[in-house]
Amino acid sequence: MRLYNIDHVGLAVFDLDAALAEYERLYGIRPLYRETVASQDVEEAMLPLGGSFVQLLQPLSKDGPVGRFLERNGEGMHHLAFAVDDIDAALKELAGEGVRLIDQEPRPGGRGAKIAFIHPKTLSGTLVELVELPDDH
Ligand code: CO
Repeated sequence: MRLYNIDHVGLAVFDLDAALAEYERLYGIRPLYRETVASQDVEEAMLPLGGSFVQLLQPLSKDGPVGRFLERNGEGMHHLAFAVDDIDAALKELAGEGVRLIDQEPRPGGRGAKIAFIHPKTLSGTLVELVELPDDH
């Protein structure tokens, strides 16, 4: 498996509109994508930054993974996402190494991507997401 780049850093926020307004006011950046991602129970916005993105995540409910994270920790970094070219092969390889996967199979993410999460216990205490983008990205 090869990791290509840091696709994005995911930050959990209570109020996406307010966070976007602050990023625009302070850094002059606007989101390239904004969409609801049902499989993650979030509305997300992607702020482009030198080939990577800052991903802002506002939970749609308190019961989803990001909603629970916010309740526990408040706003802050939620996960780190690496781009891969073949997520199915990557998951197979990691499972073969005994890595604890949160997603055994990829699920649909934003931008038409396939994504999967890896348990923080097995990777530097950090929730890691693998991202396989569609060919037109
Ligand atoms: Co993400």
